Amino acid sequence: MLSFRRALVAAAFIITALYFITRSTSPTASPIAVEYPKSESNPESNPPSDPRQQSDSTASSSNDAVLASEHRHHQQQQTSPEGQQTLRDTSRMTLYDKLEYHFPYDVETKFPAYIWQTWKWTPAHGEFQFRDQEATWTDQHPGFVHEVITDQVAVHLIRLLYASVPEVLEAYDALPLPVLKADFFRYLILLARGGIYSDIDTYAIRSALEWIPSSVPREAVGLVIGIEADPDRPDWKDWYSRRIQFCQWTIQAKPGHPVLRQVVSRITNQTLTRKREGSLKGLNNKSVIEFTGPALWTDIVFEYFNDPRYFDMTQSSGLIDWKNFTGMENSRRVGDVVVLPITSFSPGVEQMGSKDYDDPMAFVKHDFEGTWKPESERHIGD
Ligand SMILES: *[C@@H]1O[C@H](CO)[C@@H](O)[C@H](O)[C@H]1NC(C)=O
Ligand SMILES: *[C@@H]1O[C@H](CO)[C@@H](O)[C@H](O)[C@H]1NC(C)=O
Ligand SMILES: *[C@@H]1O[C@H](CO)[C@@H](O)[C@H](O)[C@H]1NC(C)=O
Repeated sequence: MLSFRRALVAAAFIITALYFITRSTSPTASPIAVEYPKSESNPESNPPSDPRQQSDSTASSSNDAVLASEHRHHQQQQTSPEGQQTLRDTSRMTLYDKLEYHFPYDVETKFPAYIWQTWKWTPAHGEFQFRDQEATWTDQHPGFVHEVITDQVAVHLIRLLYASVPEVLEAYDALPLPVLKADFFRYLILLARGGIYSDIDTYAIRSALEWIPSSVPREAVGLVIGIEADPDRPDWKDWYSRRIQFCQWTIQAKPGHPVLRQVVSRITNQTLTRKREGSLKGLNNKSVIEFTGPALWTDIVFEYFNDPRYFDMTQSSGLIDWKNFTGMENSRRVGDVVVLPITSFSPGVEQMGSKDYDDPMAFVKHDFEGTWKPESERHIGD
């Protein structure tokens, strides 16, 4: 067990390291300046110069379809014109606006080269049992900063990152189960710092540099997600909470992404509401999927796709829902979000159209061993 002091020192070290890594202009110390090489996994016969202008790719094309064609994405306004933040009184802002103020989103920045993982122990600890998995992330991502963060360090890291948003800290402290905190942590770290979060029991099969099809410009994407479940069967409700369920064991994001901002606002609000009502004790393992887990994650991603603040709904040909993603075999982009097919983050499950681990679209392998997730959240047959 880490002592409080050691945890604090570790958290301070990580923050300091991040500060220098992100602020430094010296080319030797900027692992965030990652260039995405051309992906060979997804040959495009005829790449459009601007995929948003491609209008008929959604129907049956086997290439990477761009759903965004008529579903136009508004470029988000910067908090201030020069990208410079003026000091403002944030006390009267809604939590959502406060998070936007402290963690502004700029889709044109590069994906930060961080890999975040959490576990009870660091890899230096004798009891750490995910060495093979952990090594695949390091091997596939030279130059990335890779951190395995313990629960105790996580507490201090969140306190430092969210010092100016005390309601988030109050909610994090109030969450009554480790699994809820672990879910919340991934959204918090990605909102504040961006990069890749992946559960400790995942293997990286392919480098994240290859996750996005080469035809998609990196400066137009701020979030990369995968499909956990696409149960095309009449009794799907007996097994899954949503007809399409996005996974949250692996997520890549640029800092400040509005989906993360919304998910952090929602969890904070719900947690504090329950705290005030005195009903936090009512949260049990069965509540996790809806409260912080993949059901909440999936709902908020779909809300974002249909949010007039971010998408020009007047030009859209209809709401975006599970039907737009069922059965897909290649990546699809909606605005600034790339949705990978089920094979990418859930290969080898031998159902729902998922292909095997050696498929070129298989990017990570998730074991479901190291998560504190309840049975009900796992795949059938795991
Ligand atoms: C949660 O959000 C609702 C609606 O915005 C708001 O009225 C309420 O005060 C919030 N609750 C807490 C505890 O922040
Ligand atoms: C999503 O699918 C619906 C049909 O289910 C379709 O009407 C709509 O045009 C699709 N949206 C986009 C943006 O392709
Ligand atoms: C919740 O799940 C965890 C991990 O699966 C388990 O250790 C714990 O005993 C469960 N708690 C309850 C109340 O079922």
